[in-house]
Amino acid sequence: VKAAVFASGTGSNFQAIMENANLPCEISLLICDKPGARVLEKAKKFGVPTFVFKPKEYTNKEEYEKLLVEKLREADVSWVFLAGYMRIVGPTLLSAYEGRIVNIHPSLLPKFPGKDAIGQAFQAGENVTGVTVHFIDEGIDTGPIIAQEPVYILADDTEESLKDRIQKVEHRLYPRVIQKIVK
Ligand code: GRF
Repeated sequence: VKAAVFASGTGSNFQAIMENANLPCEISLLICDKPGARVLEKAKKFGVPTFVFKPKEYTNKEEYEKLLVEKLREADVSWVFLAGYMRIVGPTLLSAYEGRIVNIHPSLLPKFPGKDAIGQAFQAGENVTGVTVHFIDEGIDTGPIIAQEPVYILADDTEESLKDRIQKVEHRLYPRVIQKIVK
């Protein structure tokens, strides 16, 4: 079984997926919408082929997503894992991979969707937040939840220390969910 990861940033989740010894699928493509993103160095290190594109060079989302679907089909991909891909997936990609696109989000959804979920929870003075892995639908961080894990916000936490603990949970949870759902 082949899968693709979509990432635009550091790629620590991509790395955690790649380093998992019991992954039930081969990551055969990394798709990235930010030339120069650090995840691209990581893909090179693991020998994962990449497709990098600039959304601004296309007329609209439908146009670049048609191309992405082509790339995914060429690479024989049947699952898509979003790991810090900071764009809303449109109907073109969603309908091509219905029920096979998974996202990870650093909060206990439905709380704190969207950008800077860690900062949102921290600034709201919550004492617990966490990590959610879910199937995506047309909304922002909505869609059926597959797994969640709480992370407690401690009295002496800073946003940075909280982020570190959340990311550790992400790196453990995402590969485990992939093991559970990919057949
Ligand atoms: C993660 O916190 C993930 O939950 C969110 O984007 C971040 C990506 O981090 N969707 P990284 O690039 O995997 O380090």
